[in-house]
Amino acid sequence: MQPQHVLVTGGAGFIGSHAALALAEAGHRVTMVDDLSRGHRGAADAVVAAAPKGAARFEHASIADRERLATVMRTGEVTAVMHFAAFTYVGESVERPLEYWSNNLCGSLALLQAMGDAGVRRIVFSSTAATYGEPPADRIPIREDCPQRPINPYGASKLAFEHVLADRLIAARAAGAPFSYAALRYFNVSGCDPKGRLGEDHRPETHLIPLCIQALRGRRAALTVYGDDYPTRDGTCIRDYVDVDDLVDAHVRALAALPESGALHFNVGTGTGFSVREVLDACARVAGKPVPHIMGPRRPGDPSSLVADGSAIRAALGWSARTGIEESIDRALRWMSDHPKGWG
Ligand SMILES: NC(=O)c1ccc[n+]([C@@H]2O[C@H](COP(=O)([O-])OP(=O)(O)OC[C@H]3O[C@@H](n4cnc5c(N)ncnc54)[C@H](O)[C@@H]3O)[C@@H](O)[C@H]2O)c1
Repeated sequence: MQPQHVLVTGGAGFIGSHAALALAEAGHRVTMVDDLSRGHRGAADAVVAAAPKGAARFEHASIADRERLATVMRTGEVTAVMHFAAFTYVGESVERPLEYWSNNLCGSLALLQAMGDAGVRRIVFSSTAATYGEPPADRIPIREDCPQRPINPYGASKLAFEHVLADRLIAARAAGAPFSYAALRYFNVSGCDPKGRLGEDHRPETHLIPLCIQALRGRRAALTVYGDDYPTRDGTCIRDYVDVDDLVDAHVRALAALPESGALHFNVGTGTGFSVREVLDACARVAGKPVPHIMGPRRPGDPSSLVADGSAIRAALGWSARTGIEESIDRALRWMSDHPKGWG
């Protein structure tokens, strides 16, 4: 693949910073765009420092600023977009749905319009397993043709932008113009850069593995396990944990595989589910001590099991997860120990 100049939205966030560095190390140029509403300037600076000289830069801007983004893309001769910028907390989306629709849908629309203004016709979009809602038990592991019925505004806003992209492709085809996109629906993302240059610092943290590590390191009181009466092997919820280093590799491959005109839809997971108890046990093995935790009642809207069927992405892109859960936990634990205040 020819080297690209990729605009990475959400480049100061967890996954976006890892993707930006992976792209730069794969020989592409990268412009990270982030409004720093949730991300960290330190993460973007770490990408610039670690990337080959001159390969990465940061632009403090919102994806909702169509004119600014179009100018950035035009002047930089951007050739593709990787779109990570979003609000990502399920619970918050239920409490503040309009903010989620505004940022995740209207912001993404402005970005897509800016791409049109600047003649950029390729985009890899961060979608999510949350677009599937609560799939019936007989649809697990989840294939891409599983009905998408999100059960919260976060998942709904992500699915809506998948629909926008599909319509944009139809219009481009009708006009005889090139346009292509990949919608990558991730499951639970964990870990950090294997070389320890980047890490995960969500505020507030809602993901199980960093929460376990914070509890292990005494940075929070005991972790609450929400429900132990699910119809699973040990009663706790089962999820599919994909390592961020593997995930960004899927993005780089998807970018290279984008056709002149067309769409790719892939679930990105390992195909193996771990229950909450199994994750706690894995964290305890890595840390050499048990994770302090208490049992609590179920949380409404938590499906009992979400596991990806990874056969489509394996067949199309030759991608499968390489990093085991303990290795992923070990990397996260090391980064969080080396950066007790996260990005500061
Ligand atoms: N972390 C996961 O487990 C997971 C799972 C499935 C999907 N995803 C998706 O992956 C993407 C990245 O997730 P993450 O965990 O890295 O989240 P994150 O919060 O760490 O990163 C998102 C970044 O987007 C930025 N941002 C938000 N709104 C913006 C705007 N209007 N303009 C510019 N920047 C803006 C934030 O400041 C932040 O840096 C999201 O789209 C999320 O929906 C994440």
